[in-house]
Amino acid sequence: MIVVLLGPPGSGKGTQADAILARYNLPHISTGDMFRSAAAEGTPLGLKAKSFMDKGLLVPDDTTIGLVQERILKPDCEQGCLLDGFPRTIAQATALDLMLESLGRKIDCILYFDVDPQILVKRLSGRRICTKCDASYHILFQPPLQEGICDHCGAELYTRDDDKEETAHHRLEVFEMNTAPLVDFYLDQGRITDINAAPSPKEVTVSVFAALDKLGLA
Ligand code: AP5
Repeated sequence: MIVVLLGPPGSGKGTQADAILARYNLPHISTGDMFRSAAAEGTPLGLKAKSFMDKGLLVPDDTTIGLVQERILKPDCEQGCLLDGFPRTIAQATALDLMLESLGRKIDCILYFDVDPQILVKRLSGRRICTKCDASYHILFQPPLQEGICDHCGAELYTRDDDKEETAHHRLEVFEMNTAPLVDFYLDQGRITDINAAPSPKEVTVSVFAALDKLGLA
């Protein structure tokens, strides 16, 4: 089963990916996580990606498509995968369809996280991530038990560079310019399952599981 999580920055893709992975047996392919870990390792790909991410821009399509192509061909993806944050341009979506077609496969479900843009900056600027285990929190909506400390491993929490207010605003503009046309492209093809991503994370998870259970995902 190949599932795509699509939605603006802060719409809850990462939060819902964690819930999906805890229930369904799928490898997780998050292009954002892959770029951040390559940047932390200081690889040429990571440094190139960082130069775009820090400005709130998308990493160029050829780099991103190549990265996903390589990952999706790994043996653990033979039964499917959870694509989180990819595709996010029409060029990426077209490349993905062609890539899957050549493998005799296709996307089974595209979940679109629909949420009022007004609340997204608040979600992004309040997000905190664990320096050690990457667990994600929100200072208001999902606070850790002890301020600044991860509930799971006790390490310190930090704010992502691209969550600073100005960059977060820019990421939302980039979404409107580059990814909103992809949403329309998939809508025209009748391929989108709309998820109301405005309620609490737990309520959103109920809608996500209902959509995935319908597909017979186990
Ligand atoms: P990426 O890491 O994918 O960032 P993003 O898409 O901007 O998404 P976010 O991680 O910011 O948000 P999310 O939807 O996962 O929300 P989350 O669950 O964390 O990409 C980063 C960068 O990498 C891009 O800007 C680009 O440069 C590059 N990149 C990545 N993929 C690329 C691609 N395909 N092509 C080109 N470039 C690419 O939630 C956010 C906060 O809200 C959290 O604090 C959470 O606790 C809280 N929250 C979540 N759900 C709720 C809820 N229902 N109610 C209240 N609070 C909630």
